[in-house]
Amino acid sequence: MSRYAYVNGNFTRFNQAKVHIEDRGLQFGDSVYEVWAAKDGVLLDDIGHLHRLSRSLGMLRIELPLPLGSLKPIIGNLLRLNRVKNGLVYLQITRGVAPRDHPFPKNATPTIIITVRPKNYAQLEAKAQKGIKIVTKKDLRWKRVDIKTTNLLPNLLAKQEAIDEGAEDVWFFDDNGKITEGSAQNAWILNKEGNLQTRGLGEDILGGITRSTIMALAKKLNLKIVEKPFSVQEAIEAREAFVTSATSFVTAVVEIDGRPIGNGNVGSVATILRKAYFEN
Ligand SMILES: Cc1ncc(COP(=O)(O)O)c(C=O)c1O
Repeated sequence: MSRYAYVNGNFTRFNQAKVHIEDRGLQFGDSVYEVWAAKDGVLLDDIGHLHRLSRSLGMLRIELPLPLGSLKPIIGNLLRLNRVKNGLVYLQITRGVAPRDHPFPKNATPTIIITVRPKNYAQLEAKAQKGIKIVTKKDLRWKRVDIKTTNLLPNLLAKQEAIDEGAEDVWFFDDNGKITEGSAQNAWILNKEGNLQTRGLGEDILGGITRSTIMALAKKLNLKIVEKPFSVQEAIEAREAFVTSATSFVTAVVEIDGRPIGNGNVGSVATILRKAYFEN
C-alpha cells in the first residue's frame, strides 16, 4: 500500500492527496505523464524517461515549475518514504488550475503529481513466462500519439474490449492494416527472415524508452533490426512477436487474433532480450 504521494512540492499522506476540481488535467486531459519501473531501488532508464517528459511538456507548451533534474531526487525520496524498492513510479504534470475555458490560462502553475506502487517481480516473471494473447483493433487514437499525454480513452476502450474477448491486450492497426503499437507498449516481431521488426518512430507511435534500450541491446547481440511497419498478417506469420514497455519490459506475444505465433510458446529471442534488459 502506498503511504505517501507527491503533490505540488509536498509529500502528502496518500489517502489525503488531492488536486483541485478545476485542474485542466481533470477537465481536458491537458496533461502529460511518465512511468518508470524501479528495480532493487534503481529507476530503470531514468534519463530516457526524463528526456521524453521534457519533450512532451514542450510539445504542449507546459512549463515545468522546477528544474527537470530535481525530479529524480524527489522520486527517490518518494520511493524511500513508501519503502518501495521494486515498483512503478507514475508522474503526471497538468497545465494547472483555471476556470474552465479552452485557451491556455495566462497564470496557471502546472500541477505535479507523483505516486509509487510496489510490484512483485517474481509474479511478473511467472506471468511473462506464459506470454500474452492479443487481438488487433483499428487505431482510433488522435494523430499525435508520439506525445505522452493522458488522452488515453481509445487505449482504455480497446484494452477492455480485448479483455472481454479473452485476450490480455490489443495491438492497433492503421488505415493500411499495418500495426502501429499496443495499448501501452511498442509492438515487435521476429519476421520470417529472422530479423527484428518494429515500426519506425513517427507521430503515429509513442517513442518507447524500453524500445530504444532494447534496440541498443539487440544491436550488441548482433540481431538485425528493421524499422518498418508490418501488417497484421505478417505478425501472425512471424517467428515471434513481443511487446516492450516500462511495465512489461519485454513480454512475448504467443497468440494474435486467436492464431498461435510460431509454435505458440514464448520465443527464444524475446526471452534473450528480456534477460538482457535486466542484466543491462
Ligand atoms: C502507447 C504506448 N506505446 C508504447 C509505450 C512504451 O513506452 P515505454 O517503453 O517508454 O514505457 C507506452 C508506455 O506507456 C505506451 O503507452
